[in-house]
Amino acid sequence: MDFDLKTNEKGNLVIGGADTTKLAEDYGTPLYVVDESKIRENYQRLYKAFIKHYSDFKIFYACKANTNLAVMRILEQEGSSIDAVSPGEIYTALLAGFEPSRILFTGNNVTDDELRFAVASGVKINVDSVSQLQRLSKITKPSNLDISFRVNPKVGAGHHEHCITGGDLSKFGIMEEEAVDVYRIAKDLGFNPIGIHAHIGSGILDPEPFIMAVKTLMDVAGRVSNEVGIKFQFIDFGGGLGIPYLPEESKLDIELFAKEITNLYKDKLKEYNLGKPYMYIEPGRYIVGDASILLTRVNTIKQSYRKFAGVDAGFNTLLRPSMYGSYHHIVCANKPFAQPVQNIDIAGNVCESGDLFARDRPMPDIQEGDLLAILNAGAYAFSMSSQYNSRPKTMEVLVNQGNSDIIRERETFADVLSKQNVPIRLLK
Ligand SMILES: Cc1ncc(COP(=O)(O)O)c(C=O)c1O
Repeated sequence: MDFDLKTNEKGNLVIGGADTTKLAEDYGTPLYVVDESKIRENYQRLYKAFIKHYSDFKIFYACKANTNLAVMRILEQEGSSIDAVSPGEIYTALLAGFEPSRILFTGNNVTDDELRFAVASGVKINVDSVSQLQRLSKITKPSNLDISFRVNPKVGAGHHEHCITGGDLSKFGIMEEEAVDVYRIAKDLGFNPIGIHAHIGSGILDPEPFIMAVKTLMDVAGRVSNEVGIKFQFIDFGGGLGIPYLPEESKLDIELFAKEITNLYKDKLKEYNLGKPYMYIEPGRYIVGDASILLTRVNTIKQSYRKFAGVDAGFNTLLRPSMYGSYHHIVCANKPFAQPVQNIDIAGNVCESGDLFARDRPMPDIQEGDLLAILNAGAYAFSMSSQYNSRPKTMEVLVNQGNSDIIRERETFADVLSKQNVPIRLLK
């Protein structure tokens, strides 16, 4: 995988037609830079790969990957729907212009208040447990609701154990063996379920487990349809499509993947006489993951027991390396193709030893003041950032054809403190 790096006549890294060194000068660092056309390209590549094999197909962008309103507007314009996992994500999607009918809420361990919010918003609800179903039946008239169930197909996959959401250790969904009973309970309560769903994990580059899950979910759908008399309007295979983070990883062959999934889908529809329900998928990472970089400036070169390059971002800004041990490729913005001459640790500015973007990373010569670009920082990057160490959250800019717009202002110290109160008795 060569990460498709572009440079200008000065040899500087370019994203969305904009010189990264100029972006860093204009807006400061750390800085997330989001490439609009890359998001559109990723969406269209995926959509076209599936739609040509099966016409009733929809993408529900899993907005947890990146909830910036501008990113969501781009995807609304492309025709996407939204997978939301919290009331906050429903609220964001509505604000970004998605009709409620284009939003599917897949919550887990959901409170009654959260269910009321979802019902009042008019979105489809993907139910995670019998408890949730029963509480939902008391909150609203069941026949007014479009619901589906998240089924755990006993297959899991993902780039890290925290990101595997299927299998017998997973907290998500109902067990596949109980699906027939649960759909029956739903009918008895007055619901008319219209869908079935599974999501087995995130960061999948090997299609095999995904195909297994599709197979299992279709068998479950067949049983539920034939035994309970449910007519499915949609079958949703969730997200999880991975992107290469390591240079030695290859991209998913999306054409082949789409062909295999849709063929299997069509065979199973026929086998169980399921009609022609919509096929949904819920990718997050695949659409936005490689569309952003994080620019961070080196402020300290230090030879301790090891050699460190210290930068002005930390795991408060990009958590994945510390949280999952994830690899993110890092280049010098003014010489992205320079050959490595050293192995060095690239450390953030958070007061914890685990705050490392890379350990022993082969890098070219790096000096204080150099600008680094951390690649593939579009998914689970800003959306997982925090104010830890009282650091204001960073800025995001959107680039397109050489132009840039701020899509999120840099926070201030006042923003960090804005929701705190000190009782009057402590002010004396
Ligand atoms: C229910 C659901 N759908 C879709 C996704 C998207 O996953 P990814 O970004 O790997 O495509 C997730 C992520 O965890 C999820 O929980």
